[in-house]
Formats: sequence, structure tokens, C-alpha cells
Amino acid sequence: NLPRSVEIIEVGPRDGLQNEANFVPTAVKVEFIRALRRAGFKEMEVTSFVSPKWVPQMSDAAEVMQLAGDQPGTIVLTPNKRGIDAALASGAKAVAVFVGVSTSFNQKNINKTTEEAVEGLVPHIKDLKKNGVIVRACISTAFHCPYEGKIEPADTLALCKTLAEAGVDELSVADTIGKATPDEAYSLFTLLKKELPQVMMAAHFHDTRKMALANIYASLLAGITRFDASAGGLGGCPFAPGASGNAATEDVIYMLHRMGIDTGVDVDLLNEAIEIIEPHVSRDLESWYYQSYKKN
Ligand code: HMG
Ligand code: MG
Repeated sequence: NLPRSVEIIEVGPRDGLQNEANFVPTAVKVEFIRALRRAGFKEMEVTSFVSPKWVPQMSDAAEVMQLAGDQPGTIVLTPNKRGIDAALASGAKAVAVFVGVSTSFNQKNINKTTEEAVEGLVPHIKDLKKNGVIVRACISTAFHCPYEGKIEPADTLALCKTLAEAGVDELSVADTIGKATPDEAYSLFTLLKKELPQVMMAAHFHDTRKMALANIYASLLAGITRFDASAGGLGGCPFAPGASGNAATEDVIYMLHRMGIDTGVDVDLLNEAIEIIEPHVSRDLESWYYQSYKKN
């Protein structure tokens, strides 16, 4: 029994552009975000408030928010108090915090152990909820870690539980390096849905090994109805070696629509948005759906 509709959270402007070789000009980002909204996405991660020394690609977060952050469903990512304050000052109504299950990954990504990161985040999550801000928590290395290998589902569950108890509205559970297989996706999401029925849950698959679509299908079978995806299949975490792009939104939507599952997104308008960003990115956009659109 598959759902009749699912929500796609577009993460291209954030996950997609944070890992690009070059800084994409702010005006192009803004045009890209506006075109994505026209395609029908109701929720989108538009930028991240992180250290510009660590991720210079996102150093224009405040400008991006000023120019394109005024729509409902706009989400910004940030790991700490400094970023949360800047996000709120920029008008953000929804904030995504992030932490990985594995300490080795967190040390590379945010210079903290998992325990330090969680201890730091919990009070901020509670404050954000007191102020009526929507909070999503992105759980990296939920399946595999580039440094520690396979992650125990019990460890992922424990971290998800702590953040759910802190009050997050949503967990976005991520296969950071695109190493999960459909059986792993099915069993982890079955476990998380059973243990944490009170919290919204999204699946975030990177496509390094070309298993993102299969993993999305397996997650649908496990009851997931919210998926992060990135237009053009852009994306990756600069501190996760081997992480390539996210599931390409256009391929995900093509599959869902062919299966009779509605997303509310117009794929032709999505392709037009991808055409805006393509000349500014360093990689070839290989998704089947976008390539076939360009040929016709
Ligand atoms: P640090 O060097 O340990 O900490 O970095 P710090 O407090 O000393 O900060 C360093 C400098 O950055 C300081 O500036 C701070 O003020 C400044 P200085 O005093 O040297 O001039 N700073 C900031 N500036 C702007 N906004 C901020 C901010 N915080 C500090 N929020 C830190 C620690 C966490 C800041 C750093 O490691 C960092 O920014 N990491 C972010 C890494 C990142 O963005 N990774 C990608 C996003 S996560 C992801 O992609 C995974 C996901 O997609 C799911 C999945 O696929 O797994 C979500
Ligand atoms: Mg990611």
C-alpha cells in the first residue's frame, strides 16, 4: 500500500551548492530558488548559516534570505547558536540543525563529538520551539560513515530519540555517502517509524552508488512519505569523502508520478530551474530525466 502523494523537500540550493567547486553568484542562486518555487515545491532548504571559513560556498546566506527567503516553507540549515541567531535575524521561520551519528564524521564536519554536538543543540532546539520556529534535525551517517563504516541502527535510533525528545518537528535521516542498500533503508525506516511515530520523518539519500531511487522505493514501503532531493542531482558534503550528489529531484518525481503518486511539482518547470543553475556548476548533470528533456 503506497501513498497517493508525497512531499519533496528540495535541497538543491543548499546541499546542491555547498559542495560545488566554485561559489555560485548570489543572483543566480536567487533566480534558481525562485524558479524552483514556480515548479511547485512547498518546502526548500535555501542556504546554510555555517562558518564561511569552512564552507565559503554558503557565505552569502543572509543575502540569499533577504532576496529569496520570504516564502512559506523556506528552511535554512545551521549547526550552532551563532548560525541560529543569524538565521532568525534573516527572517527564517524554519531551521534545520544537523548532527551525524558517528563522532569521527562530526569531528570533520563540525569539529565536535556526537555527544558535544547533541548537548550543544538540545537547549537551542527547546528555545526555538518556545519561539514557534519549525525545527528539522538532519541526521547524517545514519547508515554508513566514511570513517567508521557501518553504523548500528540502534545508534541511529538513539540519536533520533534524543532529538525527538528535545522537540524537533522532523527528522531528516541521511545516507550521507550513498552507501545504503534498499534492505537497509527498509529496515531502518521501519524501526524509526515504529519507535518514533510522533515525529515527522524524511529520508535523505545521496546517490553515490546509484541506489537512491531503489532506497526511496524501499522507504516508501516502510511508510516514509517525505523525501529530500536535489535538482540536477547536485550535492554532497565537503567533509564526507566519496559523497556525491543527492537523489536527482527530477528522476525521483518522474518515478513517483509514473507510479501514480502525486508530488505537486511540475517537472517541466523543474527542468527550467535546472537550466538556470547548469552553466554555473562544475559537474555534468547526469539525471536521465533532465538529459532526455535537453535532447528534445
Ligand atoms: P570551529 O572552527 O570549530 O568553530 O567550526 P569556531 O566557533 O571557532 O568558528 C570558526 C569561525 O567561524 C569563527 O570565526 C566563527 O565566528 C565563525 P573567526 O572568529 O575565526 O573569524 N562561525 C560562524 N560564522 C557564520 N555562521 C556560523 C558560524 N559559526 C562559527 N554559524 C563550525 C565549527 C560548526 C562553525 C564549523 O565546523 C562549520 O561551520 N561547519 C559546517 C560544515 C557544513 O556546513 N557541512 C555541510 C552541511 S551538513 C550536510 O551537508 C549533511 C546533510 O546534507 C545530511 C547528509 O547528507 O548527511 C545535512
Ligand atoms: Mg546531504
